[in-house]
Amino acid sequence: MPVPRNKTEDDITAEVLQRFAETPDPRLRQIMLGLVKHLHAFVKEVELTEPEWFQAIEILTEAGRMCSDKRQEFILFSDTLGVSMVVDLLSHRKPDGATESTVFGPFHRLGAPELPAGGNIAHLDKTGTPTLVGGRVLDLDGKPIAGALLDVWQAQSSGLYDSQDAGLDGLHMRGKFRTDAEGRFLVRTVRPVNYPIPSDGPVGRMLRATGRHPWRPAHIHFVVSADGYEPVTTHIFDRTDEYLGSDAVFAVKDSLVCDFVRHDGTTSEAARLDIAPPFLTADFDFHLKPATGQRATVLDAQQRLAALGAAG
Ligand code: BEZ
Ligand code: FE
Repeated sequence: MPVPRNKTEDDITAEVLQRFAETPDPRLRQIMLGLVKHLHAFVKEVELTEPEWFQAIEILTEAGRMCSDKRQEFILFSDTLGVSMVVDLLSHRKPDGATESTVFGPFHRLGAPELPAGGNIAHLDKTGTPTLVGGRVLDLDGKPIAGALLDVWQAQSSGLYDSQDAGLDGLHMRGKFRTDAEGRFLVRTVRPVNYPIPSDGPVGRMLRATGRHPWRPAHIHFVVSADGYEPVTTHIFDRTDEYLGSDAVFAVKDSLVCDFVRHDGTTSEAARLDIAPPFLTADFDFHLKPATGQRATVLDAQQRLAALGAAG
């Protein structure tokens, strides 16, 4: 009688795969089989020890405990592991010439006020350098899109978003702008600053333990949408920022880098808006691709936030 062979880790993998093989929904089946295959391969490749496995459980437990309507540690894990950007690229393929998308991040809030052209989203920020961000929303042939909506948000010059600032109650550094007949928009704000992503939790510990920094290069967030076009969730980045090459969440794309130009004298636009020098201007045109029938980004973002219990 031959001695029966002991069960191996590959036997377990095969058994788990077989157990999921009859999943009725084909997409769920594909996802579960892929997940088990790669997760088991990862565990075997690094020969994960029991203490390491338990540490992972503790980290995920702590991440879950940290989540609230103001904090999403799992999104931070996804962002800092580069997963958010890969998913974004797979979900929002853009033809050349269309404005590239980038991460949505955890700091969007619903209910930003609709402001007129030149409206100030930074009315409570007394330390930042006044900045006018203007440009056009165009189609892929360069034709202006009138009535496009730009949902804009940004960190204050302190580096904190309104929701992180204990001294603030309502919305700040947020606004919605519509393009005019020539597709033009104009946002008054303050110069964006670089800031560290929240690093007082397990994501911060992962960054420190791996010799990574938590900084994001200075940027302004936009969701740009218009009837008949695919909305784009993106940022514009300050070309001079020291963290452009090492964004903690891998969100920089060359086409989104923009010059913030300093003015020491006035211009007719600054005078009209009562902005005293020195101030900055940034010019950026957004190019939208025609809609393909799929409802995307804006609605998804709102549903996602509502599902996570985000503050309005
Ligand atoms: C943000 O830019 O707001 C952001 C994006 C990803 C992680 C943390 C912050
Ligand atoms: Fe941001």
